[in-house]
Amino acid sequence: MEAFEAITTRHSCRDYIVRQLSEEQTEKLIRAANAAPAASRNFNTVKLTVVQDAGLCAEIDRAAAFALPPLKEHPTFGAPTLMVLSVKPNRAAPFVPYCNASCMAENIMIEANALGLASVFLMGVPMVMKNRLELLEKLNIADGFEPAIVVAVGYAAEPVAEQKPMRILVERF
Ligand SMILES: Cc1cc2nc3c(=O)[nH]c(=O)nc-3n(C[C@H](O)[C@H](O)[C@H](O)COP(=O)(O)O)c2cc1C
Repeated sequence: MEAFEAITTRHSCRDYIVRQLSEEQTEKLIRAANAAPAASRNFNTVKLTVVQDAGLCAEIDRAAAFALPPLKEHPTFGAPTLMVLSVKPNRAAPFVPYCNASCMAENIMIEANALGLASVFLMGVPMVMKNRLELLEKLNIADGFEPAIVVAVGYAAEPVAEQKPMRILVERF
């Protein structure tokens, strides 16, 4: 799949089948995250934690479902891989680590699409994880980092054929 197709056909998936990614696919997603840009080359402002243990994925899902009742019953939608991007807060420029993490998240989602996988960018889930110290310790995220984005990845239960209309404001001069 060429880059333009991988980018324009990516969409958020909220229903996954029970099938884990292969080691090769997982490795490619990690390398896609690693290839993202980072402000001033400060790559140490973001940490990527790849969660594929079914018990830990369920624990993250349960924690988020409990704290965020307006969300669906399963806020991670049964995805077998949760890629947690945690940031080191920067008081002088608070948005910078989040921008870095977003670039990584987008790279992961585009590469996932190119590999025939589906994904969704989650923000409510990491907001809950931030305050669950026991869970953070299990994931080794207690060392000055806090979860900012979770990219859920897996195989879609249903293929999506929908074309995207123009959704953003564009001006050209
Ligand atoms: C910053 C950000 C936060 C998001 N948070 C969530 C979330 O918590 N839960 C969710 O299901 N989707 C979340 N999404 C996915 C959006 O709902 C989705 O991208 C949007 O509906 C457009 O659909 P598309 O991704 O299929 O193009 C988030 C997306 C972004 C960029």
